[in-house]
Amino acid sequence: MKISKICCIGAGYVGGPTMAVIAQKCPQIQVTVVDLNEARIAAWNDNDLTKLPVYEPGLADVVAEARGRNLFFSTEVDKAIDEAEMIFISVNTPTKTYGIGKGMAADLKYIELCARQIARVAKDSKIVVEKSTLPVRTASAIKSILDHTGNGVQFQILSNPEFLAEGTAIEDLFTPDRVLIGGETATSEGQKAVNALVDVYANWVPKDKILTTNVWSSELSKLTANAFLAQRVSSINSISELCERTGANVNEVAKAIGLDSRIGAKFLKASVGFGGSCFQKDILNLVYIAKSYGLDEVADYWEQVIIMNDHQKRRFADNIIKTLYNTVSGKKITFLGWAFKKDTNDTRESAAIYVADYLLNEQANIAVFDPKVQEQQILTDLDYLNTRSSEENKNNVDITNDPYQACKDSHAIAVLTEWDEFKTYDWQKIYDRMLKPAFIFDGRNILNKEELEKIGFIYKAIGS
Ligand code: UDX
Ligand code: ADP
Repeated sequence: MKISKICCIGAGYVGGPTMAVIAQKCPQIQVTVVDLNEARIAAWNDNDLTKLPVYEPGLADVVAEARGRNLFFSTEVDKAIDEAEMIFISVNTPTKTYGIGKGMAADLKYIELCARQIARVAKDSKIVVEKSTLPVRTASAIKSILDHTGNGVQFQILSNPEFLAEGTAIEDLFTPDRVLIGGETATSEGQKAVNALVDVYANWVPKDKILTTNVWSSELSKLTANAFLAQRVSSINSISELCERTGANVNEVAKAIGLDSRIGAKFLKASVGFGGSCFQKDILNLVYIAKSYGLDEVADYWEQVIIMNDHQKRRFADNIIKTLYNTVSGKKITFLGWAFKKDTNDTRESAAIYVADYLLNEQANIAVFDPKVQEQQILTDLDYLNTRSSEENKNNVDITNDPYQACKDSHAIAVLTEWDEFKTYDWQKIYDRMLKPAFIFDGRNILNKEELEKIGFIYKAIGS
């Protein structure tokens, strides 16, 4: 079976870049990305490519090449579902904020709505691909809805987890370590559906990197990959605290252990804590699934990764307060960076949000500069915590688009995101504008300690 039309429901950080790359690499396939959010679709269609709703290095070029040729962004969800042979579901699956599994389980309401919509609209056989991060066995829930509410047409459900990391999404999509496709390989219809998706990726991914498994292995692999990666960050962060007490240097320790080929060098960078839409959510999902099978030791084991991460964020904020003579009340603290990592405008679960919250509770005034995050997003992130009124957040947080202005009359700088441009700043000029003594708390270990200390800064990095 050759696919000629693909529809993707959800034009977010995953759906947008993934479909743009599929369209660019497969000019023979028409790819339509749909979303209920009209403003988002308008932004994807904007002639000014700097206005795309997702910031990713290289994305604008891919969109420029494919958009209007075989890549389309639209709000006409039913039409796109009806026309496509293959439908990707790439809607958001936030952690539940209510009821059973609150704070842990994934909220599948958007997925369910999609499934019901597909069932209502589809008049012929469809292959439905789950692309969102989902708990194990979601595919079977989607199948049940489709089979029981559809118009008697055949649905094949595939799991095709995304492994792209934000900030390097285009690179990750161009040359993935692997593509994972889960399907019902025991039936010939299932096998055909798997092959159809394999053929799409085979347009640019070597066949030996395309792995096929059963649906549940595929779903669980995604959660496990993220849990392992997050665990490495929490592991090195736990060591960073020990380093600070003992005089060891966490960068040296990370380098030394990373050279052991059994351990490897990646994901060993100590930081103020991991963020992003996946790590915490996926681990909480794993914990919830384990608990629901009565596997308490398994659940506790993975939950510790989150506990360590929360501790790291709190510890970073506490260290600022302690160092500033045990009070930040009325003091200006400048945040360089708000995104959860560099090269993205995504702020979901960013450590910056929580560090800001702790410091605001201590009555600090916070100035924020981030090269890509919009002012409104920063305020929305703080309001979402519900710790204080929007009015108070607005009054105590000052967002500027000039880093030098952000540092004026400030008592301390906190580096929350590892943006490369921070390394190129005129630090003497910044020092001259700050109150003395001038402190830097480098939550990403990216600045040059010797250079800053020579200027006069009191410099504190994580883990040394
Ligand atoms: C992650 C996975 O890497 C990706 O494969 C999956 O599909 C989605 O989730 P993402 O969340 O976009 O991707 O970013 P990632 O690069 O994994 O970083 C996650 C967080 O960990 C960031 O806050 C990052 O700053 C932090 N991190 C990462 C560290 O603190 N130290 C490290 O060594 C690596
Ligand atoms: P992700 O990081 O998983 O891509 P995002 O929140 O960036 O998550 O994107 C998910 C998108 O899915 C949002 O733009 C949202 O409007 C869209 N969406 C959610 N439910 C539906 C639906 N039923 N139909 C169409 N779009 C939907």
